Amino acid sequence: MPKINDNKLIIFDTTLRDGEQSPGASMTQEEKVRIAKQLEKLGVNVIEAGFAAASPGDFESIQAIAKTIKTSTVCSLARAVEADIEKAGKAVMPSNNRRIHTFIATSKIHMKNKLRMTEAEVLERAVMAVKWALNFTDDVEFSAEDAVRSDINFLVEVFDATIKAGAKTINVPDTVGYSMPHTWGERMAKLIEQVPNSNEVVWSTHCHNDLGMAVANSLSAVINGARQVECTINGLGERAGNASLEEIVMAVKTRRDIFNLETTINSEFIVPTSKLVSTITGYPVQPNKAIVGANAFAHESGIHQDGVLKHRETYEIMRAQDVGWGANKISLGKLSGRNAFKSRLLELGIEIENAETLNAAFSRFKLLADKKSEIFDEDIHALISEEYVAGAIDLHKLVSLKTNSETGKVPAAEIKMTVDGKIFEAKADGGGPVDATFKAIESIVKSEAELLLFSVNNITSGTDSQGEVTVRLAKGGRTVNGQGADTDIVVASAKAYINALNKLLSKLERAHPQV
Ligand code: KIV
Ligand code: ZN
Repeated sequence: MPKINDNKLIIFDTTLRDGEQSPGASMTQEEKVRIAKQLEKLGVNVIEAGFAAASPGDFESIQAIAKTIKTSTVCSLARAVEADIEKAGKAVMPSNNRRIHTFIATSKIHMKNKLRMTEAEVLERAVMAVKWALNFTDDVEFSAEDAVRSDINFLVEVFDATIKAGAKTINVPDTVGYSMPHTWGERMAKLIEQVPNSNEVVWSTHCHNDLGMAVANSLSAVINGARQVECTINGLGERAGNASLEEIVMAVKTRRDIFNLETTINSEFIVPTSKLVSTITGYPVQPNKAIVGANAFAHESGIHQDGVLKHRETYEIMRAQDVGWGANKISLGKLSGRNAFKSRLLELGIEIENAETLNAAFSRFKLLADKKSEIFDEDIHALISEEYVAGAIDLHKLVSLKTNSETGKVPAAEIKMTVDGKIFEAKADGGGPVDATFKAIESIVKSEAELLLFSVNNITSGTDSQGEVTVRLAKGGRTVNGQGADTDIVVASAKAYINALNKLLSKLERAHPQV
């Protein structure tokens, strides 16, 4: 039965792999498992959990996800080399539904300059990779990296051979985000038409957003026969990102008249998933982002407001609650005890086995509940992310912070922090209280890291909401994101700066799949 006639669209989420290739977006194992559980709840069919050969940490995270996830397929990326494939195979082994996604570049520019291989060598390697992967699972996906700039006849040859070798999914990536929707659709249609055994596999598309076309290109591929879309939450990903899952899913759902396809996505979990990914990666969602941006359903002009009040569909093509807006749940409050806290954590997919970590998280929760009467799920996620200070080491810790800002006076900060258990204190002036705080921290730590980004967002609405701060630091070719949350945004900023410093110093090295 030809797969392209199926009316099911497979949603392959690569937030934990391509998404993690966004500068500084690396996540801890605990955070990855938490996101994977949320993706499963969302109804994603395939979770690309990482690139097993990147580092021992990546391998272990994939393994932990493979042990935890029950319904979604768990996949690892692997270059077309035996050692990578073996690592990927071992990492996904605990999962009942496991996939290996192996790839090699097929464009002249990549073969000549990066791989230094001939077409014949690439073809041979691709076939070897698929056959080798079949030793670990019968669910093997093959991707031709930079398919967008590859010679179509060579692509046909490679896909024909890899299907014969046993690949079940053929992925066609626009690795560099170069396509236009009509050309990408044409390419997909041609491949399906020209590859002799194309009806034996699921055709997949993987688009990057360099020209802002990732979603449009993916949908054009779907119209032309693709039945798997590779995408990420919030469109995270290498450079300008990947096609965003929420936009793909809601386009297919809202325009059923065009696509006539079903997905298994429970759309009411879209916004909570977007918020979780944003909190964990430190990548804020722009307010005007489709579906998950804070303004996506906000009507500003009087005419629009009047229209919506009279008849919602005058200006709305989707219902906010269908994508999870308004699902903000008051989780806990000041009087909630340890058991209530622990059960809410479990409901949110957070299991803390270590009693000390649970106690520390509970104490933080109590402190927060003193400042903020209603604690939402987002607050809990932020609190837990802080508890597991990403980056494995916790060399620097904030003890206390005092800032002074008054009109007409130079803002100043006094900080007390520990470095490797020893207390240090410093004072500094600055352009504002945050600037003064960062200068005070730097006078102690002397990291000389470059500050690339400082952003503040409120976690929930209202002025008593916690401010969530992201600080991006770079040094010696490494970029990291630090996060901090607090009802006082200057304290949140100090926490975020210190978190980023801890990550910078953790020096966790990982290989990049495409290098
Ligand atoms: O963009 C790309 O080509 C990739 C492949 C590894 C699928 O991410
Ligand atoms: Zn990619």
